[in-house]
Amino acid sequence: MIIIKTGEEITKMQKAGELLAECHRQIAGMIKPGVTTSEIDRFVEKFLEENGATPEQKGYHGYPYATCASINDEICHGFPRDEPLKNGDIVTIDMVVRLDGWLADSAWSYAVGDISDEARHLMEVTRKSLYLGIEQAVIGNRIGDISHAIQAYAESENLSVVRHFVGHAIGQEMHEEPQVPHYGPPHRGPRLKEGMVITIEPMLNIGTYNVKIDEDGWTARTADGKLSAQYEHTIAITKDGPLILTEQSRL
Ligand code: MF3
Ligand code: CO
Repeated sequence: MIIIKTGEEITKMQKAGELLAECHRQIAGMIKPGVTTSEIDRFVEKFLEENGATPEQKGYHGYPYATCASINDEICHGFPRDEPLKNGDIVTIDMVVRLDGWLADSAWSYAVGDISDEARHLMEVTRKSLYLGIEQAVIGNRIGDISHAIQAYAESENLSVVRHFVGHAIGQEMHEEPQVPHYGPPHRGPRLKEGMVITIEPMLNIGTYNVKIDEDGWTARTADGKLSAQYEHTIAITKDGPLILTEQSRL
């Protein structure tokens, strides 16, 4: 079942999204060689607590941390750790914020110091693919229009689209229907209606899109060990077009 949100509910989700966006802005200022993803995780947990919010990922199906921190060949769901970030790493920080009962979800990839041209290209194309997907998030389009826009652009830049993880509708629960794949044919899938709220969260890889999961049961990494990046926003479908509830530049 697809749950339609009222304007008031979307405003609440936007409040959660603004707090989440502020976390990302702070993290952008923290990222440098020597910083650990544990420090970032502790910052997020404290910042949310100070602002009356909670990290929805902590305890979700037993996930142990407030954030996911996925470095280099890790695609998603990496554990924050005490090992310092190194010059040349790329790291994706993903979190879901609950405020006043409503959720927002956003992941962002960060460069640590000076990164390779290959890594920069991966990050730029992945971020741009997210925004091309968002452009398709308009009333009357279908989920497949979002999927196709992302896949067509990613593959035109010689990157692969992860199949194993997809975007999703979100509201009072983290994962609602429908799913939002980042690959597939246009003009297929559920039609987008006013009041739907979805995440779009492409994970693009330099090599294969195949995934392997670590023994911790969470960390997903590329099967060939090559780099992966991810950008994710929470978006409301409105009469005025896509409304990005987790936009960082609005603040
Ligand atoms: N925020 C992610 C998503 O888009 C991942 C959540 S996994 C968790 O769905 F278990 F860690 F919460
Ligand atoms: Co998500």
